[in-house]
Amino acid sequence: MRVSRRNWLRNAGMVCFGAAAGGTVTSLCGAPTTPAAAATPLPWPYVKLDADAVAAAAYEMHYKAGCCYAVSASIIGELARKIGSPYTSWPAELMTYGGAGVAGIGSLCGALNGAAMVTFLVTGSADKAKQGKAQEITRDIFNWYAQTPLPTFRPAQPKFENVKIVSRSNLCHVSVSKWCKASKCKISSKEREERCACLSGSVAKYTVELLNAHLAGEFKAVCKLPAESQTCRDCHDKGSPREDARVQMDCGVCHFTKTPHPTL
Ligand code: HEC
Ligand code: HEC
Repeated sequence: MRVSRRNWLRNAGMVCFGAAAGGTVTSLCGAPTTPAAAATPLPWPYVKLDADAVAAAAYEMHYKAGCCYAVSASIIGELARKIGSPYTSWPAELMTYGGAGVAGIGSLCGALNGAAMVTFLVTGSADKAKQGKAQEITRDIFNWYAQTPLPTFRPAQPKFENVKIVSRSNLCHVSVSKWCKASKCKISSKEREERCACLSGSVAKYTVELLNAHLAGEFKAVCKLPAESQTCRDCHDKGSPREDARVQMDCGVCHFTKTPHPTL
């Protein structure tokens, strides 16, 4: 059977992104090519945004394409309006991948996934040594999410009133199922959809507040890991005696450790 070169490449899963994106590719699938968007290195420009307006947009966008899309597109949409390029070429719909804990898997909350992406876009760097600020801001958002009774955002005309819960976790599954238990609503209910839309509004608002503070040179992490989990990390995380867990989450959500457990 004869196969064209193009089909052969496609079958082999080797069609280069550079070719598809119209980049300068001298030889197909020789050296790795760079996606066109990398022509604008991180961090992308940021200007002060209205956190309440972004939150309201995120709430609406959630009903269009879910949590991860809502948080990223509400912020990037405002930046596109105020700054234009490179934001105008951002493929906003791509972020639907993160919905309901990545493709409905119930893993990382999509609102947080979108928030982390935007944070790295406007404060990050390809250089690992310069990612400290993006990491600090992202961790603050994640800790805030785990520790705060959410949702904090309430739209002008709510479809339902919300029960707030403290998730203690950044996982979609934990957050949603704790809410189902507290509200006695099902995951497939309209109430749950409204709750997650409000959650997207809440996360978008908090993210913009932190990014605005960072822009003003006033960002300071306020939401720390619980002190007990910090103690666990002193024995189990990087630089510790055991070094068998790289985790900055609330350990007690998942671990009921042996008693007596070693103490420092
Ligand atoms: C003083 C150091 C120290 C601290 C603090 C500490 N650990 Fe450990 N941890 C150990 C050691 C040593 C072992 C292995 C000992 C064993 O298997 O009995 C261990 C084992 C474990 C294990 C595997 C065995 C088990 O108990 O299930 C888990 C999980 C664990 N630790 C989680 C935690 C968590 C969560 C915290 C905080 C609440 C914590 N550790 C705090 C030293 C520590
Ligand atoms: C989202 C749930 C979750 C969170 C949060 C979490 N862990 Fe774990 N951890 C697990 C699971 C699941 C395993 C695998 C347990 C197994 O297979 O026995 C594990 C394994 C471990 C082990 C190895 C256990 C062993 O038997 O040797 C250690 C140590 C550990 N975790 C420490 C921590 C510490 C410290 C924290 C907090 C800083 C933490 N974990 C947070 C779920 C979690």
